[in-house]
Amino acid sequence: MNIPQQAADYIRQKTKGFNPQLAIMLGSGLGAMADDLTDSIEISYADIDGFPVPTVAGHDGKMIFGRMDGRDVLFLKGRVHAYETHDFTPFKNLIYTLKALGIERLFTTSASGSLHEDMPPGSIMLISDHINMMGINPLLGPNDDDVGPRFPDMGDAWSHKTREIVKDIAGQLDIPLHEGVYFALRGPCFETPAEIKMARMLGGDAVGMSAVPENIIANHCGLTVAGCAVITNFAAGMQAETLSHDHTLAGAKLAAENLSRLLKEFIAAD
Ligand code: HPA
Repeated sequence: MNIPQQAADYIRQKTKGFNPQLAIMLGSGLGAMADDLTDSIEISYADIDGFPVPTVAGHDGKMIFGRMDGRDVLFLKGRVHAYETHDFTPFKNLIYTLKALGIERLFTTSASGSLHEDMPPGSIMLISDHINMMGINPLLGPNDDDVGPRFPDMGDAWSHKTREIVKDIAGQLDIPLHEGVYFALRGPCFETPAEIKMARMLGGDAVGMSAVPENIIANHCGLTVAGCAVITNFAAGMQAETLSHDHTLAGAKLAAENLSRLLKEFIAAD
């Protein structure tokens, strides 16, 4: 039996009664949102063969099944990044397991740097599209035609329909919501000021080291994907302060309250 099928069987056994169709991936410093779930059941990635085990502070590596507003939802707390590995098989195992569990929609959140003076730390940017400058693609290698096509269409990689729903909710809750292009670099260095200038010239609005591999894998296997960049800092060269991961975690806290309100309503509307 293949790993995602095996993992899904194991997870189903541990989470009887839960049947979520929405999974929400929580990025750096955003994991606390999962604390608001009721009846929750946690499964550590480390307990599942073939799953990605994060190595970065602020990333636990857990699936948390629970209920919010009477809806079943799955939070993915913590993620592995492209800079932690050369092997995307564990990323694929995780996403394919979601699919095997009956998940239809994936919403990702990612700590990111802002490329705009008027989008300060604490802002939320709905991702309208991405530019993959990571120098990798998780679908490199032989294609499994049973999973998805060799040449997947990426015209609606960040679901237009879902974005409209999120924008409506933000409007109702009076939460300022930006929308723009996520410019993905592999890291692990933060960018140089010259790289940030390039990102802006090429059409990026926020810069980050995640979101894109998951997005590609999930689109390839037929999930609907949407997500937001959580602005934790101005990008390199835009502020005097030195960039650090502590900075990212502190910046995420600024956005956490609004993001939490937004996602709760999104879950309720799902
Ligand atoms: N650059 C890349 N990734 C990030 C940043 C940044 O400025 N902030 C948080 N994640």
